[in-house]
Amino acid sequence: MPRVPDGVTGCAVTGWGIALPDKIVTNDDLAARMDTNDAWIRERTGIRERRVGGSTASLSVESGRRALEVAGLAPEDIDVLILATTTPDRQVPGTSAAVQAALGLRCGAFDLNAACSGFVYGLVAAQGMIATGARRALVIGTDTLSRITDWDDRNTAVLFADGSGAAVLEAKEGPSNILSWAIDADGTAEMILHADIGSTIVMEGKEVFRRAVRIMVDLGQQVLREAGVRIEDVALVVPHQANIRIIDAACQRLGVERDRTAIVLDRTGNTSSASIPLALVDAVDAGRVADGDLVLLAGFGAGMTGAASLIRWGRT
Ligand code: ACO
Repeated sequence: MPRVPDGVTGCAVTGWGIALPDKIVTNDDLAARMDTNDAWIRERTGIRERRVGGSTASLSVESGRRALEVAGLAPEDIDVLILATTTPDRQVPGTSAAVQAALGLRCGAFDLNAACSGFVYGLVAAQGMIATGARRALVIGTDTLSRITDWDDRNTAVLFADGSGAAVLEAKEGPSNILSWAIDADGTAEMILHADIGSTIVMEGKEVFRRAVRIMVDLGQQVLREAGVRIEDVALVVPHQANIRIIDAACQRLGVERDRTAIVLDRTGNTSSASIPLALVDAVDAGRVADGDLVLLAGFGAGMTGAASLIRWGRT
């Protein structure tokens, strides 16, 4: 898996934004309708509450608009929109069509479904397009998992939720600020986490857990190796927000402590494609990321997909 080669047009993250529905669902709310309790959910997952509501398009428009504002760009400046989602609003067309129209973009737009790895897959695709001529890309990760969750199934209902996060990538002079990337998939594990069309998510939690840790560690180490960077030099790890025990196990194996890990899971639950940008933007807004810092993104998801990328924060 590649280190971004010298000589191609590089890119930097220049804008970011998030959107969360207003409605908060606490663990006690869930305990009122199924056989579970706040202590179990917090201890076994790390989740305290989650946000539920909105459509994939409406949340994407909100996070995308904020990312454009932060980047200081007009809609017509964007050359491509990539919407990572596993919960499109319609089967046809892609939800990116509605988002493109609502934001007033005048560019190619497509959906990308790599489950919870989708946002990082989207960044990888966008940087490849910038390397071959695009100047600015808007990458949005949005999921409304509440719509495909069985709210009477305690195995899944305690985990999943809704949200959106977006980033603008812009071409830049000199070396790319996306230093390296890795994507992976193992379709033989398709059925351990799936939702048939028109149905809800079915999951073998323990098997997903076991594979998730391995995927994040393997891909995280791969992108560090490709970039020639030691884990000690990484300022922040942004893991997929699925379960605090998965995050802790993966980070422990990578050699990263909690104070260098971005976590929003306690407030958001698992928002799939949105989870990595939600955690990244939370850390940026809290002043935990400075220009020049190295940030490691690492995710896994249904498929089973995996994706990681090492990014140097800042425009230059
Ligand atoms: N509340 C209370 N008790 C529960 C609940 C609940 N919500 N769920 C399960 N239990 C019980 C079980 O019935 C079991 O009871 P028993 O011992 O009497 O049989 C006990 O708690 C332990 O259950 P386990 O399934 O062993 O619990 P585990 O510690 O494995 O945690 C969990 C389950 C949280 C699902 C965990 O396996 C996990 O997080 N897996 C990964 C899931 C994941 O990351 N999915 C998203 C992937 S990303 C994407 O693409 C969407």
